Amino acid sequence: MCGIVGYIGSRHASGVLIEGLRRLEYRGYDSAGLATVDSKEIQLVKVAGKIANLSSVVQVNPISGTVGIAHTRWATHGPPSDINAHPHLDCQGTIAVVHNGIIENFDKLRRKIIESGHQLRSETDTEVIAHLLEEQIQNKTFEEALFSVLVQLEGTFGLAMICTNEPRKIFAARRGSPLVLGLGKNRDEFFVASDPAAIISYTQDIMYLDDNEVAVLSDSGVETFSLDRNRTDKKIESIEITVGEMERGGYSHFMLKEMHEQPEVVTNAIRGRLDFTEGLAVLGGLSDVVDQLRDLKRLTIVGCGSACLAGTIGSYMLEEYAGLPVNVQLASEFRYRKPILDPKREAIIVVSQSGETADTLGALREAKQKGVLTIGVVNAVGSSIARETDAGVFVHAGPEIAVASTKAFVAQVTVFALLTMFLGRMRGMSRSVGVKIAEELRVLPHKIDRILRQEEWIRLLARKYAHSPNMVFIGRKYNAAVAFEGALKMKEISYLHAEGFAAGELKHGPMALLDPSLPVVALMTRDSVFEKVRSNVEEVRARRAPVIAVVSEGDEEILSLTDDIMFVPRTLEMLSPILNVIPLQMLAFYTALARGHDPDQPRNLAKSVTVE
Ligand code: F6R
Repeated sequence: MCGIVGYIGSRHASGVLIEGLRRLEYRGYDSAGLATVDSKEIQLVKVAGKIANLSSVVQVNPISGTVGIAHTRWATHGPPSDINAHPHLDCQGTIAVVHNGIIENFDKLRRKIIESGHQLRSETDTEVIAHLLEEQIQNKTFEEALFSVLVQLEGTFGLAMICTNEPRKIFAARRGSPLVLGLGKNRDEFFVASDPAAIISYTQDIMYLDDNEVAVLSDSGVETFSLDRNRTDKKIESIEITVGEMERGGYSHFMLKEMHEQPEVVTNAIRGRLDFTEGLAVLGGLSDVVDQLRDLKRLTIVGCGSACLAGTIGSYMLEEYAGLPVNVQLASEFRYRKPILDPKREAIIVVSQSGETADTLGALREAKQKGVLTIGVVNAVGSSIARETDAGVFVHAGPEIAVASTKAFVAQVTVFALLTMFLGRMRGMSRSVGVKIAEELRVLPHKIDRILRQEEWIRLLARKYAHSPNMVFIGRKYNAAVAFEGALKMKEISYLHAEGFAAGELKHGPMALLDPSLPVVALMTRDSVFEKVRSNVEEVRARRAPVIAVVSEGDEEILSLTDDIMFVPRTLEMLSPILNVIPLQMLAFYTALARGHDPDQPRNLAKSVTVE
């Protein structure tokens, strides 16, 4: 999704800005641009397409200046084009604005400024901000103009702005779209960015801008203000990610690297959190809310996409082992229905890798307004969701760069197993069951390793089925959500149309699709619903659809029922999704390659969906 970088210091701004944009490339975008400022003019370059295009233009026509802002755009208002790319200028070309988020009342504002004689060049909501600032700045400082404009804006924004009137300053403002401020090591250069990843080559010291805050970056430092123009105090924090984590480290793709990191990811998620003697999970992030958790009568889990599917698996665990009724909701639905929540006896778990997904953040705020306890299961430390939840458990997956979630999903499901132990042991789960789950979690990383060693075989399978027009994934109970996740992964990176079904649902409609051209991927490891899935697979075979099965190691008996097989080690049923999803991730990855697509950056998608 859109990215922002801003720089003030003594280096060539364009170099710093392009490097920053490259570090944000993984988030998905369709155009890019940058602008620098001095007292005479703003120099601007912006192009549709990749950052490499922007960089080539800058190489041919260098952009001078040591103060500047830059942006990667993911189109919302108006298609990707040079004109719609950011930064946007006012009529005079003296103010430049980059913007993440959506201005909801932009139509009304646009009409108003056109009536006042402004000429708009683009179809974007962002450009109106440059013209509104131009209106206000006639008899004001930029800062005063900015405060007057911000109160007119409805919707969400992370903004960075420069102006020829005050050429040694960058102005920034946030409502609903994340921004961080970076302080150079010697405090002689300063940065603003929508994601700390953009500035990790330059500094580790950052401050998170809060909603409805404004920042002014100058050569002497950074000042922050609330919307009522009072100074605010900010804490300096450290970026938790390293440059190495943001690079491919010898792998051809980030997604491949991230799939291979999964053994370590599970190790990190459970590290220091298991008591193997008592069968307990030790979750420090929940210690302040233990009493409220003990009295819980119901839980709601919200998230989007893969995060919601991880939550669905979590709901099966929590109901089976912690005896808690759990309701799982897509965040985008939760926030607009009228959820009935009892603030005394209910809590909401908010699941998000990025911690910035607009719908999930919206759902969290809706729940907070209703007064229920909010718990985050989040990867990105310092993200909005991590900071706004009452308590939480970080999944510690490390930065996930590929658009398709793999290691974060596995880490989220692992954390749900820990939460199940934590809440279960408070409400009747025996010590021996707790110990059994803990022991099995401990050996999962080795089992994941065994699956990853089948990579070459899965690559061949992917090539065999890559040109099927459609694919179906089926599973039951814990693995119904894995079937949905497998189909989601397949469609999002390979563009092969794939659907996931709870296997028992086939007969209620989808079975009409089955014929020899439709491969069915069946999750049929040995668990409590194995026989049921086997019957469903028999039904599939009867319609002559090819079956690719994920089966338990050594289960040779299934061979006669299936066309192809991927083996996974045996584990507890509740933990089986952590293993079963891995061959499906690999299958999707190699299918994307076989179909000639880049799995890391699927078309039309963004890593972090910060608009509704
Ligand atoms: C799918 C995928 C998405 C995300 C979803 C939520 O591979 O990555 O479905 O899971 O957009 O994102 P987060 O977890 O950042 O809130």
